[in-house]
Amino acid sequence: MYKIPANTLFMGKNLVYVPECHSTNTLASELCQLTSAVEGTIVITDNQTKGRGQRGNSWLSDPHKNLTFSLIVRPTFLRPIDQFNLTIAISLALRDFLTHRINGDINIKWPNDILVNGKKVCGILIENMLSGDTIHYSVVGIGLNVNQDSLLLEAATSMNAIARHDFNLSDEWSLLCEFLEKRYLQLRAGKIDELKNDYLSCLYGKGELRKFIDATGETQGVIEGIDQQGKLLIDTPAGIKSYDLKEIRFIG
Ligand code: BTN
Repeated sequence: MYKIPANTLFMGKNLVYVPECHSTNTLASELCQLTSAVEGTIVITDNQTKGRGQRGNSWLSDPHKNLTFSLIVRPTFLRPIDQFNLTIAISLALRDFLTHRINGDINIKWPNDILVNGKKVCGILIENMLSGDTIHYSVVGIGLNVNQDSLLLEAATSMNAIARHDFNLSDEWSLLCEFLEKRYLQLRAGKIDELKNDYLSCLYGKGELRKFIDATGETQGVIEGIDQQGKLLIDTPAGIKSYDLKEIRFIG
């Protein structure tokens, strides 16, 4: 069972726990459509059976081993064009939390995968519901590998694999809520430059030469950073190019 975090103002205070569901993101979206779920509401499950990931992928997580939850926020202060700033704040919160809890080289792989020593420990799926020129609500889905024993992919890791001991899921979730709230409040306070600087300082592969495939085929370039909308900037032989998630696939 998950205890309501004691040290937050709103994050996780309204907790919707379901023992099992297809996808907490789907459930949280339904909740937003049917009710006026308050900011900071979290939908969490011990067994997510049809977890959704980026690029239409699925997210697999063994029951009772990991954190699979979705946070509802209402960033009405952000213009839809600036929605990537929410991605920045949430990724940083995960990085802050992991830096606090485990040792290792913890980075953010654009746009929002959290890596420890080059392997993915956490995936984030943010779904924004836009209404005119405002973000009506955002569902922030977080899948964090905590006590996952059987690692499903070569490129994945978990907190217990790094620390060599298991963690209490409820305690970790409570603490994570504190880190999420801190970064979200920074975003709400308009401290965008600080957030961007922090994000760039831990952006995986920044300044490095990478091979990738884009609309023109296989090419390579140096990762430079992100633009105003959060597109990835790469210095290629054809000049600086910006990419969104659907336009680029790294290889090697
Ligand atoms: C990714 O592809 O890296 C994003 C994975 C996001 C998974 C989380 S688990 C909780 C929430 N519910 C979902 O269906 N997906 C997100």
